[in-house]
Amino acid sequence: MEKIINFAYIISSIMFIFGIKFMSKPDTARKGNLISSTGMLTAVIFTLLNKGLAYEYIIIGLLIGAAIGVYFARTVKMTGMPEMVALLNGFGGLSSLLVAFVVYINENSRGEILEIFQSTSIDFITLLTVISAIFIGGVTFTGSMVAWGKLSTKLSGKPMVFPFQKEFNLLVIVVVVISPLMYYIDDPGIKMLLIIALILISLIFGITSVIPIGGADMPVVISLLNSYSGLAASTAGIAIKNNLLIVTGVLVGASGIILTNIMCKAMNRSLANVLFSGMKKSKKVTGETEKKEHTALTTEDAFYVLEAAKSVMIVPGYGMAVAQAQHTVKELTDLLEKNDCEVYFGIHPVAGRMPGHMNVLLAEASIPYEQLKELEDSNNLLASTDVAIVIGANDVVNTSARDDENSEIYGMPILEVDKAKTVFVLKRSMNTGYAGIDNPLFYLENSRMIFGDAKETIQSFVSAFKEI
Ligand code: TAP
Repeated sequence: MEKIINFAYIISSIMFIFGIKFMSKPDTARKGNLISSTGMLTAVIFTLLNKGLAYEYIIIGLLIGAAIGVYFARTVKMTGMPEMVALLNGFGGLSSLLVAFVVYINENSRGEILEIFQSTSIDFITLLTVISAIFIGGVTFTGSMVAWGKLSTKLSGKPMVFPFQKEFNLLVIVVVVISPLMYYIDDPGIKMLLIIALILISLIFGITSVIPIGGADMPVVISLLNSYSGLAASTAGIAIKNNLLIVTGVLVGASGIILTNIMCKAMNRSLANVLFSGMKKSKKVTGETEKKEHTALTTEDAFYVLEAAKSVMIVPGYGMAVAQAQHTVKELTDLLEKNDCEVYFGIHPVAGRMPGHMNVLLAEASIPYEQLKELEDSNNLLASTDVAIVIGANDVVNTSARDDENSEIYGMPILEVDKAKTVFVLKRSMNTGYAGIDNPLFYLENSRMIFGDAKETIQSFVSAFKEI
């Protein structure tokens, strides 16, 4: 039976790899999802055929988990998805931590928790994997909880720095690196207490390592935590000697690292810089601050400009997700094209609140993928574009990232909408975006602010086009 199970695991692993491959293109993504979930179902069914399982606990866990899962899947709003993904990552980490802890108990006492204080028989390699899974799992859990708080605005999105932060983090890393030496301690009680201390340290470290990161750097943290959850799962897989868990964990870990790299490039920062330096503090400019004026435009006047435009670049951001304007945007795109205007979408890799956020929303509204342009292509197109319509985006079009050396986000590549002949900025007020930084774009001569909910504003353009 063990051979059959391992063979099924190989099949599942192949299905995961093909699933990920198909998911890399929007038109094959659904197929990829189906193949991967069939792979997972196969894996679960064959895992249940293992000898010696306590089915009563599995069924209870399954029922509770499924009930919570169905509840959240039905109630979570589309705008709440980024927070939801952070929570799911965190719980992945917590389960790896718990699995590793149970392995430690089982190895020493065949399941009797109190016996653990009397005997110790764990071998060095298993202890090493248990420590790794506990540490990475714990950091992933509390780190993701902080990310959830920052994304849902329950915690401030600003970096929170505390005294001796770097020294504390360094100390924790040293403690964790030397912790396998506990193998040489004979007293099982002290060993158990050290494992419990390690759990607490990893939970605290998750908080202290994510809390100082904030603002525009959050995309990097989110993809890194995603990668950690995979690493935690694969170390837990080594601890329980489950080949499939090792493979799946490594796949998640590796894809998370690739995503982290993409996000670092999108921010033009190195990973070390994001993790250890926090965001750059903006230098206060002394002297008289010049009063800046913006120009507001009504939707009626904006419509005449759009009617005459031959090329339009739409730049969506988090506000489009909040307004759920994607379907109305699709309607406007069709009408503009009917009016002999070329329409493109400029997509910034960190727009919104989760990787690929804009791509998902636009795909939901059936906007063809070919119309979506990446950062560099968009910037090349913008110089010859009549109108750039910024829909609920702010940080990703903040010109201070390009022009102001003192800005916290200086150096982050932006969509250079100011190069278009005219820029329409659709938002509700002059408020800042996620990074909390004022945007000089709004005060430029070719910028026009169109205030209001993005969906309503786009809807009034749609209605005006329909009336011609
Ligand atoms: P933001 O800079 O957050 O700006 C969004 C803008 O949308 C706000 O200024 C807001 O202005 C406007 N808005 C909100 N609701 C609206 C509505 N109903 N109608 C019209 N406008 C609305 O968004 P962005 O440009 O997409 O940049 C993303 C930011 O989030 C970056 O700093 C990024 O680093 C960070 N972040 C990204 C991720 C990922 S993975 N993508 C994860 C975490 C954080 P008003 O309030 O004035 O309307």
